[in-house]
Amino acid sequence: MVVLIANEKSAATASGTVSLYHDSSIWSSAPLLIGTTKFEPLPDVKNIMITGGAGFIAGWLVRHLTITYPHAYHIVSFDNLDYCSSLNNTRILNQKRNFTFYHGDITNSKEVLECMERFNIDTVFHFAAQSHVDLSFENSFAFTHTNVYGTHVMLENAKRVGIKRFIHISTDEVYGEVSDGDDDLLETSLLAPTNPYAASKAAAEMLVHSYAKSFKLPVIIVRSNNVYGPHQFPEKIIPKFSLLLQRGRPMVLHGDGSPKRRYLFAGDAADAFDTILHRGESGHVYNVGSYDEISNMKLCSLLLEGMNIPCQNQADFDKWVEHTHDRPFNDQRYAVDGTKLRQLGWVQKTSIEKGLMITLNWYSQFGEKWWGNIGSILSPFPTIDRPGAAP
Ligand SMILES: NC(=O)c1ccc[n+]([C@@H]2O[C@H](COP(=O)([O-])OP(=O)(O)OC[C@H]3O[C@@H](n4cnc5c(N)ncnc54)[C@H](O)[C@@H]3O)[C@@H](O)[C@H]2O)c1
Repeated sequence: MVVLIANEKSAATASGTVSLYHDSSIWSSAPLLIGTTKFEPLPDVKNIMITGGAGFIAGWLVRHLTITYPHAYHIVSFDNLDYCSSLNNTRILNQKRNFTFYHGDITNSKEVLECMERFNIDTVFHFAAQSHVDLSFENSFAFTHTNVYGTHVMLENAKRVGIKRFIHISTDEVYGEVSDGDDDLLETSLLAPTNPYAASKAAAEMLVHSYAKSFKLPVIIVRSNNVYGPHQFPEKIIPKFSLLLQRGRPMVLHGDGSPKRRYLFAGDAADAFDTILHRGESGHVYNVGSYDEISNMKLCSLLLEGMNIPCQNQADFDKWVEHTHDRPFNDQRYAVDGTKLRQLGWVQKTSIEKGLMITLNWYSQFGEKWWGNIGSILSPFPTIDRPGAAP
């Protein structure tokens, strides 16, 4: 079944009109958050399909492109509304003429093709994925199904309709861990993923590469550091810890808290994707690298400080930071070299301190209600109750 919603009150489906989408109106009091870049629109880009558009990062890009290019680009957000998504992320766009939400699944070829043909899609940003590493240790078949097979379905249909730009969103995790003191990794570095999520993303890249070589599909691959900010589902560390603190509960670290990550504010990520759309070259890979590298332990301090919770002495700190067993494998750090994208003019504008303040403020106002009941998600190793793709 294909459900298309231009306006949620009149959702059209193959079998008539349905009203599937509960709207609590919380989105109407939230700020409209987008990136900052704006380029001369490309003459050969008219209709952009963004998969995973009801999720976190793609939602930022959907809002950014719809608002920034109202007369140049029609944005079609394509999403199957999985557990981590929320239509609240894009409801603010529902009355915009250049925005459409399409309820579809990337593993369903009929729906993907129908969307591409109906909207005469010329450009694809492919974000939709199972994106949470912790869940991939439990049900990795679902990761292979969505991230690998789903990407294959996207590529095959992109080939079929003659897509002019296919921008595939990968991750820094495909490189595997980088030891302290080692050089930042260039786009040409070996892929050596260490967890099922990262492996599925690396496998998807292989298919993308093969479609570029075999069928001359014009592809670009993007490998980004960790992205954070408002609208991120609270299974990920920053929103989860923010909400735990708001509830007066301690943050629970996996292992000793020493693994480091580089964090990029979502507005800067939206700018990176906008820059790659307008200035990126077909056939190229771009790292999106942040300057802010911090350990999980340090992140806890920053969040406590951001919430004005005393944590200067060890006893105070220990009240708010607990430890549990580690992931089966936890990469110590990732380190990508973002020079190539910076040469296209992209700059990281938001420091981690500023980005965290914006994020904490947003979660204090909207975090508890944005996705409905999130209680079970705040545990250190949440599980998702849904049919997996396992054979
Ligand atoms: N979050 C990060 O820090 C980060 C860093 C680097 C790369 N990435 C990549 O960016 C992309 C987006 O990540 P995110 O954190 O915003 O994810 P997210 O989990 O917030 O959103 C994923 C979206 O994809 C949708 N989706 C899942 N399966 C689908 C299917 N079969 N058909 C259609 N839609 C489907 C979900 O409903 C959801 O809206 C992913 O490809 C991820 O690998 C994320």
